[in-house]
Amino acid sequence: LVLHVEGCVVAPAFVDIHVHMRDPGQTYKEDIETACRSAVAGGFTTLVCMPNTEPPIDNPHVARYVIQKGEKIGLCNVLPAGAITKGRKGKELTDFYALKMAGCVALTDDGSPLTDSLLMKRALQLAKQLGLLVMNHCEDDKLAYGSINEGSISDLLGLSVRPVEAEDILVARDCILSYRTGCPVHIQHVSSALSVEIIRFFKKLGAPVSCEVNPYHLLFTEKEILSSGADAKVNPPLRREEDRAALLEAVADGTIDCIATDHAPHHTSEKELVSFALPGMIGLQTALPIALSLVREGHITMQRMVELMSCNPARLLGIEGGSLRPGSEANVVVFDPEREWTLDQHTNLSRSKNTPLWGKKLKGKVLYTIYRGKVVYSDV
Ligand code: DOR
Ligand code: ZN
Ligand code: ZN
Repeated sequence: LVLHVEGCVVAPAFVDIHVHMRDPGQTYKEDIETACRSAVAGGFTTLVCMPNTEPPIDNPHVARYVIQKGEKIGLCNVLPAGAITKGRKGKELTDFYALKMAGCVALTDDGSPLTDSLLMKRALQLAKQLGLLVMNHCEDDKLAYGSINEGSISDLLGLSVRPVEAEDILVARDCILSYRTGCPVHIQHVSSALSVEIIRFFKKLGAPVSCEVNPYHLLFTEKEILSSGADAKVNPPLRREEDRAALLEAVADGTIDCIATDHAPHHTSEKELVSFALPGMIGLQTALPIALSLVREGHITMQRMVELMSCNPARLLGIEGGSLRPGSEANVVVFDPEREWTLDQHTNLSRSKNTPLWGKKLKGKVLYTIYRGKVVYSDV
């Protein structure tokens, strides 16, 4: 296979440890095939599928459905994360062993954060024995509406979004549990300056904590809701400039381990009025252009970007991921960091279009994605 790729970057293909594929159950938003098509167009060859499907991935049957459908499509690795608790209700642990045997690579109740500390502690201990990574959505949703984001734009607009302390408190709780038990925990989509400071502190103490950031939290602040409305609504919410600055520092200094898209497709009808809209944005095709903007602005090097999008998530999952080991069938991305393009009805491969970047000019385009040695996406 010979590709002509002058002026382009060749890197291990990206690994996204946080994707909502909506399949089974909500395929009017997305399905495993449209998610995979969008993913390979974004340079990803490994996706971890969140369990908030209908029914949820809380049993081996649903996990196997996801894996088998992913294998049949054959565009990239589709690895399910099992739910930590039955029905994602936060009351009773699922059968971790059965989920592991069925092929789950991680556990999370994403969307419904696990707030019961005793259950979380038991989950961390059990998962460690089985070599499964426990991930947790970084907000305590019970603190969601009892408090206010004083002076924030959403507060002024009368929108009830989860306040920043809902994140800080749960992140601190998860770090403490990880430190005390010695069990790994992965904190999903951190967004507040204080929570990254807490993670930095616990990493220094030696706690086996890791975390990820959603690219949109690196790009936008809460002000985006004024121009993009419901398309800028997400959990955790877009925050203030000082939070964004802290996240940029943390991706540069290694406090944040991964960029993960939290690709969260929703139908147009679910994204009408900001106050009723469902939270989340599609992100598989926009992650690279956003990450490259950080490289251009000097926040991170290209090398660091590849670590954040490929090497680190692969290592956390204990999979080969996008590695370029001699002799292995390669998962590779080739991209042109300078090429401009627009995400619109012609280029979008997701079934949904909920992103503030819809119709905007983006810089940085995947030219080839190679999965197990075969070109699964090309745009030349
Ligand atoms: O914005 C979000 N959307 N945050 C989540 O935790 C869940 C996700 C979804 O499933 O739509
Ligand atoms: Zn989440
Ligand atoms: Zn999510």
